[in-house]
Amino acid sequence: MPKIEFEGSSAGRAKIVDRPEGGDLLDICDDVLAPIPFSCRSASCATCEVKVLEGIEFFEPPNDDEADLLGILGKKDHRIACQARIRSGGGFIRLRAVAVGPPVAAP
Ligand code: FES
Repeated sequence: MPKIEFEGSSAGRAKIVDRPEGGDLLDICDDVLAPIPFSCRSASCATCEVKVLEGIEFFEPPNDDEADLLGILGKKDHRIACQARIRSGGGFIRLRAVAVGPPVAAP
């Protein structure tokens, strides 16, 4: 059963979700209010850049727009969350938002 773990960040709490059907990471993030920030949603700003800590093999290959932006960023094992697609099937994926800081401690 595929699982996606979103590390907590200043954009929200950590989440773990099951997505056996895979699909657009953007839709998954919207559905579960994942702690990944978005802005343009069109592969222009890199606000939604994520580091893939585990499970990059469970992603579909980048589309042209995502590949262009990843080429500009020049980082391995990163994906653009508004463009990336998750394969259906099994696996475990762990993601960390790049553009935001660690979780904010409760007062
Ligand atoms: S939200 Fe701007 S590149 Fe994804």
